[in-house]
Amino acid sequence: MTSAIYPGSFDPVTMGHLDVIRRSAAIVDHLIVAVLNNGAKSPLFSVSERVSMLKDVTRDLPNVEVMSFSGLLVDFAKQNSVTLIIRGLRAVTDFESELAMAQTNRVICPGIETFFLCTSLRYAYLSSSTVKEVAQNHGDISQLVPPSVVPKIYEKYGIKH
Ligand code: PNS
Repeated sequence: MTSAIYPGSFDPVTMGHLDVIRRSAAIVDHLIVAVLNNGAKSPLFSVSERVSMLKDVTRDLPNVEVMSFSGLLVDFAKQNSVTLIIRGLRAVTDFESELAMAQTNRVICPGIETFFLCTSLRYAYLSSSTVKEVAQNHGDISQLVPPSVVPKIYEKYGIKH
C-alpha cells in the first residue's frame, strides 16, 4: 500500500490545495493531509479549525485522512510509517525553497522522498496569503477557496457576506 503525506499550513485551504489533494489521492492508496501546528506563527485559523475545514472539503475522498502535527515533518512521517511527501509546485519561485526543504528532509531522514506535483494552471497564482488579502479588502474569494470555507474567512475579518 502506498501512503503519502501532503503537509502544509493550510491557513486556509485553497482550491489549489484541494486540487493537489484530489490528484494525489488518485495516485496513492492513503493520503494524510498534515496541518502544521506551529506556535510561532500567528495564523488566521486555529489548527482545529484548519483540520475541520480540510475534513469537510475532503469528505468525498475516502482514502484521505486529515491530521495535525508539530515538530519535524520527518518525525511525523516516521510515526505514521510514511516515506513519501507530496508538495505542489506553482511556479519556479517555489522551487528554491521547496528543493531546500526536500533536501533537508532527506539529509535528516534518508528514507524520505519528496514528489512534486505541478499545480493546475488555473490555480498557479493562488496562495493562502492572497486569499486573506483579497478577503480582508472585501474582494470576491468565491473562486479561490471551497464554498464552505468562504463565509468562515469573511467572518474572521468581521465582514458580512
Ligand atoms: O504550507 P506551507 O507553509 O508552505 O508548509 C510548510 C511545511 C509545513 C511543509 C513546512 O514548514 C514543514 O514541514 N514544517 C515542519 C518543520 C520541519 O520539518 N522543518 C524541516 C524541513 S525544512
